[in-house]
Amino acid sequence: MPVPKSQYMSEVWRDGLFDGKVVFCTGGSGTMCSFQVRAMVHLGANACIVGRSAEKTEAMARDIETARPGSRVIGVAADVRSISSMMAAVDKCVKELGSFDFAIIGAAGNFIASIEQLSANAFQNVMNIDLAGSFNTLKAALPHLLRSASSSSKSEGKKSGTSGRVIFISATIQYTGLPMQAHAGAAKAGVDALSATVAIEMGPRGMTSNVIAPGPIEGTEGMGKLSQHNNDTALEKTIPVGRFGTVRDIADAVIYLFSDAGSFVNGEVLVVDGGAWRTGKSG
Ligand code: HXC
Repeated sequence: MPVPKSQYMSEVWRDGLFDGKVVFCTGGSGTMCSFQVRAMVHLGANACIVGRSAEKTEAMARDIETARPGSRVIGVAADVRSISSMMAAVDKCVKELGSFDFAIIGAAGNFIASIEQLSANAFQNVMNIDLAGSFNTLKAALPHLLRSASSSSKSEGKKSGTSGRVIFISATIQYTGLPMQAHAGAAKAGVDALSATVAIEMGPRGMTSNVIAPGPIEGTEGMGKLSQHNNDTALEKTIPVGRFGTVRDIADAVIYLFSDAGSFVNGEVLVVDGGAWRTGKSG
């Protein structure tokens, strides 16, 4: 049974927006990123999603394909901590789908632990997944993103065309510091800096790089982990708009940044959190 469109994107987008485009996404077997890809596929894209578990990633790819009859979504098992694994995942995507226009770098790992509970290995482990993993994905994807950027700008007669865009999925916990999140906060701060550098270094070659920083999004793995240490009702009341975010809120942000409407947005962080981080109580 296909998931109703209203659960993962607004009515404002038009069908066919991403016809002929391909999106490559790490963390694509997880809840939040899978809905981003589902929305892109609904609007015409084909996709390659990457996850650590072959079985889970394949099953999610089949599920996402139900968003649009005739779409192609491939699931590839790879570990973002390994550059050779990410090179192989990118090669598989290019071999099966031709090339790709967009990358969503969303794979992350997290758990709740105080600095005293956190071993050096545990800290390093999250840095390896979130920060080094983002770099590895970018590094493997970059030649293809640059090629897409160059060919779309030529064919569209613009300095930057509608392809060759990357979105990093970060967080807001690094803005204020959040207890029990030293590892993820440090890693996400690095991800923000990485994206800013990509934006400036690769912008002249037609690419754009932006960050989406989700706040508390209901039904996601991150929220599940945070909930172990939080009273969700009390947390929800601290969010200025009075509700948790949804996967649709994040997918809508992705569509905007990858659409023609987002073509002059580069090096930005789009916080999608209902104003939560400004209260200093977002976790
Ligand atoms: C303290 C912990 C721990 C915990 C693991 N470790 N869980 N330390 N408290 N609760 C330590 C282990 O003891 C070990 O250190 C080290 O971390 C590595 O653990 P492994 O289990 O061997 O690692 P691995 O199998 O690679 O698993 C990685 C993982 C796991 C991050 C621990 O949770 C994972 O794979 N998660 C992926 C999905 C996920 O978390 N998604 C949510 C993302 S949410 P020692 O010293 O013992 O060897 C997100 C949003 C951010 O990113 C913002 C939210 C607020």
